[in-house]
Formats: sequence, structure tokens, C-alpha cells
Amino acid sequence: MTSSTEAPIDSHTTILDTSGQPLETPTPWKPIKVSRHEIDATIDHLSSIPLPANGRRVAHFVHLESAGRGFAPGVEVCVEVLLPGESTTPIRRNSSSVQIAIAGEGTVDVAGTAIGLKRHDVCNIPSMKPHRFRNTGTGAWVRLAYSNAPLLSVLGTHYYEELEDIWEPEAGTDGPIDMDESGPVAEGTAPDHEVSPTGARLRGYEYLVDIEPVPNKALHWPHETMSGLMSTELGDGKRTIMALYNPATERKQGATGSFFVTLSQMPPGVQPRPEGRGHRHNSVAINYHVDGVGYSVVDGVRIDWEAGDLLLSAPAWREHAHYFTETGMSAYTVQDHPLHIGMESLIWQENMDGPILALGLEKGQSGYVAPRNWDD
Ligand SMILES: [Fe+2]
Repeated sequence: MTSSTEAPIDSHTTILDTSGQPLETPTPWKPIKVSRHEIDATIDHLSSIPLPANGRRVAHFVHLESAGRGFAPGVEVCVEVLLPGESTTPIRRNSSSVQIAIAGEGTVDVAGTAIGLKRHDVCNIPSMKPHRFRNTGTGAWVRLAYSNAPLLSVLGTHYYEELEDIWEPEAGTDGPIDMDESGPVAEGTAPDHEVSPTGARLRGYEYLVDIEPVPNKALHWPHETMSGLMSTELGDGKRTIMALYNPATERKQGATGSFFVTLSQMPPGVQPRPEGRGHRHNSVAINYHVDGVGYSVVDGVRIDWEAGDLLLSAPAWREHAHYFTETGMSAYTVQDHPLHIGMESLIWQENMDGPILALGLEKGQSGYVAPRNWDD
């Protein structure tokens, strides 16, 4: 291995000779927990301050390894509070988000869709859709908001704009919105040539800038409905972990193009499993515990959890396993798995002495069928 040498070009640029150096490997952050008590104290604080001009009472849960506001390298997690009668200034932003209501109830207006979001319900906010939040209940409405903002911040491309205070949601989009039906792609006049027997093609620029949009609406996943479709009693044979799927994410299987969300639901009385080896993946997993008591073991470190706790329970590529107790358990897991599918970078090792699979690029992991022990 050779050492790197630098050759400055000017005050902004250098040339770094990295010949012979090993390539990068995963550098996972430490697992962290924000307890229910810490979340409650944050909610109390946000409820006590004057309403900011933009209507956003919000606090970020920040991992101290983050150079910005990330809870994980590519995931921001905020708690947002609105008191009765309050609403946020309408905005749109090019980050997308998952919203999990943890107290109260309110309405999310997103581009022609009004979603009533009650405790433990979930919705998504697609990128660049005008949206606002309104507390329509009688108590504080509290949401956990997960977004891909940290990655956009690193790229220097996080964009937002405030919209008119008096704002009417736009009509929903059921199909392509920007396709020029008389344009060259639609007419078949854009050049498109095969340039080698391997399938490589040479195409007109129209293909890059007149992309057929995939309709992406704000969707509502009511907790009560989902819970009723999953295991509620010992031995009922129903699934104990399922994904909240947004069809707009297609094969990426997400709630947004960046995140999947799963609901885990293990009924009381299930025999806890003995401790053993875990698994690992380079997507990060963040668990919000809805119900039950248990613990996780992350690279040999035990982290106890209970209902109301928020954990970075699986930093990228750390071995982890989760253990519930006879209380059973329920949790939402948010993972940046679809983001990695989009980047062709998702790797998964189910058995620590088994193969490392590139999910989405080769045959995937089997065995995730009902009923099974909970793992994300
Ligand atoms: Fe996992």
C-alpha cells in the first residue's frame, strides 16, 4: 500500500494520489436511543414556546456523530407539535417524509388530499407536493417526521419554498403531468439507437428532461386497519411484520422513494426466543416502539426499550437482533432500504456466516414468512 500525496492546484482544488490504497468500507455510527421520557419532555417544551411565524414547533433528534441534523447519516427524525387550532405555513420541499402520529389528531393537506391522522397512523409526504398540517383535535397533535433531508444537505441540494398563506390544495395527479404529447418522445421522433450488442443505447436529450412521471400521492395507513390484518392472538398464523407500501415506489417497496416502513406486531404470550446471532444490512433501521417491552443487541451492546422509545437500532452494517418479552411488542421500523435499491447499493447478510446478498440485483433472502420471530 502506498501513502496518499497531495498536489494542490489552487485554493479550492487538489489532486490526491490514492494509488494502491484500499477502497472504503462501512463506517457505522453507534446505536442510540431517545427514551419516551425524553420525547415527552421535548413535546412539553415545544408546547410551551410561542408559536413561530411558520407554525412549526419542531425539534430534531440529532446523533452526535452527525455533522448536520441527522439521526442517522441519511435520515432526519423530528418531533413536530401543533396545539389545538394551530396550522403550519404551507410549503413544498424536495425531501420526502414519513409521518407517524404519536399523540392527538389532525389533518394533513397535501396537494388535493386531506388525510386525518390519528395516533399511530402513518402517511407520506411526497417530494415537492404543497402541504400543511392542521391540528383539528382538542389536544396537542404530535408527529414523528422522518425525511431524507440529511442526504440532500450533504449534496447541497435541499430545497424548500413557502407558499401563500391562503392556500388551496391543488388537484391530484392521476397520470403523467408534464408529458408533452406532441413532443419528440411521444411522437417517436427522439433518436434512440442501439450502439453495441450488449444492449447499450444512444438516446436524445429529450429522454432526460421529459421523464414520464410516476403519480405519487400522499397515502394514509390507518393503524387500526393495519393492526387488524396482522397477528393479534397467539397462534392465529397471521403475519407479525408487514410493509406499508406506496405503489409509486414500485419495485423499491417503500412508503417513500427513500424509506420503507414496517409495522411489527407480536401478540402477548409468544415465547421469547433465545439470544443468538443477528443479521446486518447497510440500510439503517430506526424503531419507534408502539407497545411492549424488550431489548436489542447491537454489535454485542444491549439496549433495553419500552413503548414510546425511539432507537437507531440498526446503524448500517452493524449486527443486530431484537428480543421481545411475554408482553409481546409492536413497533414501526423506518429504513432507508429503497434509497439503496435506487442506488444499486443494498447489501444484506442474514446469517453472519452466510453470503452477503445484493438485494434487487440477485436472488434475494428467503424465509421471511409468517409467523416468524420479529426482526427488521
Ligand atoms: Fe435488521
